[in-house]
Amino acid sequence: MESPKRIGILTGGGDCPGLNAAIRAATKTAIQEGYQVTGIRNGWKGFFDKDYETLDYIRTSGIIDRGGTILGTSRVSPLAVENGPELVLEEVRKLELTALIVLGGEGTLTVSYEMFKKGLPVVGIPKTIDNDIKGTDYTIGFQTAVEIATEALDRLRSTAESHHRVMLLEVMGRNAGWIATYAGMANGADAILIPELPLNLDWLCRMLINRKEKGINFSVVVVAEGTVVEGKTIGGEYYESGDIKRKLLGGIGKVLGDIIMKRTGLETRVSSLGYIQRGGTPVAYDRSLATCFGVKAISMVNQHKYGEMTAIKGDKITSSPLSEVAKGIKTVPMEVYKIAQRFFG
Ligand code: F6P
Repeated sequence: MESPKRIGILTGGGDCPGLNAAIRAATKTAIQEGYQVTGIRNGWKGFFDKDYETLDYIRTSGIIDRGGTILGTSRVSPLAVENGPELVLEEVRKLELTALIVLGGEGTLTVSYEMFKKGLPVVGIPKTIDNDIKGTDYTIGFQTAVEIATEALDRLRSTAESHHRVMLLEVMGRNAGWIATYAGMANGADAILIPELPLNLDWLCRMLINRKEKGINFSVVVVAEGTVVEGKTIGGEYYESGDIKRKLLGGIGKVLGDIIMKRTGLETRVSSLGYIQRGGTPVAYDRSLATCFGVKAISMVNQHKYGEMTAIKGDKITSSPLSEVAKGIKTVPMEVYKIAQRFFG
């Protein structure tokens, strides 16, 4: 009798809400279609550590609403490890994997594309709170991050109003302003500052003062972590992403808050949402998108659509080539930003 075919699944890069829903959907669908499923623990690192686990119905039951990833994750890239690609391909052969499903952001999916070119039968699933992946309208995790950031902005507005302050919220998103734009629009923020646009400090400070002069004694501003202030992106140490090192962003809120306070004299307070955006329960949209992507990934394996990833375009669950991801990040369309901009100040 022929032994069942086997699929591997890994989650790489930063975690986000909805990963477990996708692991559940892909695993259960694969089993229904006659595959066995192996989880590779902690991203690509699992191949080097030979850290694997069997995924089955029991292991993937009751996790659709759980944040994080049951498989663990890491930012280790095979391209940054000596003989990394060869070692991964050898492990894939030893594990007898028909295909590998990789849940990743821009870095991990770009690595997946490189690995595909080296012979890995890979199908990607795009996930990241940043929503900056080309080839798909939305990524798993984005909507949850927007909900969390919107709630934070709503809460900040009420305390801003009580104390007659400027409240500044720093959100994540790396070099794209998706979270800031959508949360800021949903909150009716007085300014949304994103990396896609040059930061006009004169305009910002004048707008805040104008509000006060009009008798509106509070303001809410949201700033994306990658926004350039006085020619600099604010951040700290470097981390591996794919085969490149990236600066860990964060801290623009504090820098900008000090500038605003100094230039306007308005009492300004800063909050940084940080990893709260990435943890916890996924909203319904992310669970459903993750479920659609998990099921789609298995059908792509059945059709040998390797070197591609699942995607949503309009209302269609479809696929896009991983080569598109490797072309660079997807930034916020100006038509959308301009809608939010109408309500500034
Ligand atoms: O890509 C997701 C993200 O949360 C970014 O928004 C943020 O800049 C980065 O990851 C933080 O990375 P790390 O988890 O390595 O600190």
